[in-house]
Amino acid sequence: MSDLEDGVADQYSAYDVLSRIKAGLEGMGHDPERIEPDVLKAVDEFHIGGAEATAHLLDQLAVHADTRVLDIGSGIGGPARLVAGRFGAKVTGVDLTPAFVETARALSAMCGVSDRVGFEVGSATSLPFPDRAFDLALMLHVGMNIPDKAAIFREARRVLSERGVFAVYDVMRTGAGELAYPVPWADSAAISSVATPEDYRTAAAQAGFGLRNEENRAAIALDFFSRIQAAAQEASAQEAATEKAAPPPLGLHNLMGPTIGEKMKNMIGAIKAGTIAPVQMIFHVA
Ligand SMILES: C[S@@+](CC[C@H](N)C(=O)[O-])C[C@H]1O[C@@H](n2cnc3c(N)ncnc32)[C@H](O)[C@@H]1O
Repeated sequence: MSDLEDGVADQYSAYDVLSRIKAGLEGMGHDPERIEPDVLKAVDEFHIGGAEATAHLLDQLAVHADTRVLDIGSGIGGPARLVAGRFGAKVTGVDLTPAFVETARALSAMCGVSDRVGFEVGSATSLPFPDRAFDLALMLHVGMNIPDKAAIFREARRVLSERGVFAVYDVMRTGAGELAYPVPWADSAAISSVATPEDYRTAAAQAGFGLRNEENRAAIALDFFSRIQAAAQEASAQEAATEKAAPPPLGLHNLMGPTIGEKMKNMIGAIKAGTIAPVQMIFHVA
């Protein structure tokens, strides 16, 4: 791992995610050894829009039970489990952060889906897989930690088959303005590499991909945050009435820690200002 990759993995390893999730499940009255994947949705989709955004992306892809799927930067495995559950496909996740890989494996075992999803430690810029091993690659909210976009696309192209598809959903730079830190993917500018849609298109074209579809999801993201905020306000009003004020047992605070409020505020402020936006791009092997 490079020094930068060490820094990225350190940031994502800062909280004992698996223990926090197990404690949250117990707090909700679940047996952590036997859970339905949906129970984890508040915590295991670590990108803007959560499972709704993953479903939106998948709606535009042809996935079948025999599609070999790779999830690059698979986090704690939510998107991989969603793909396996919806299509019956086998999904391989790869992630830089060993603690996330360990958590992804443990949660998948708890959900009883380890026969369909597997997770490896590795970098998007040097994937530990042979050429043409997959038909579909996904990458959700990962490129913001990787300065070398050309390497991401080169590696994705190498491991995809001749008719392969690469579906990307990243936060990209869409306008002028400084980013305030922390944000959900970086405590400081040192590990943040937000690039423009044009940077992604150029790197993709150089690696041999054609762009099939591109969608700026800023408006949908802001609507999503408003709904989350309204639900949180309603929950806290109810808690105040019953005198028990505590964060929900499962949520992205389990991954982002106590600075989640500041991280979200900085990110939402930058989306509102037009500085950044979540952008979805679907590429095919040209
Ligand atoms: C914001 S999380 C998104 C996780 C997951 N894709 C999801 O949507 O739930 C970013 C993830 O990217 C991973 N990551 C960052 N740089 C990476 C790299 N060079 N190679 C592989 N994974 C990386 C981090 O470890 C982290 O799990």
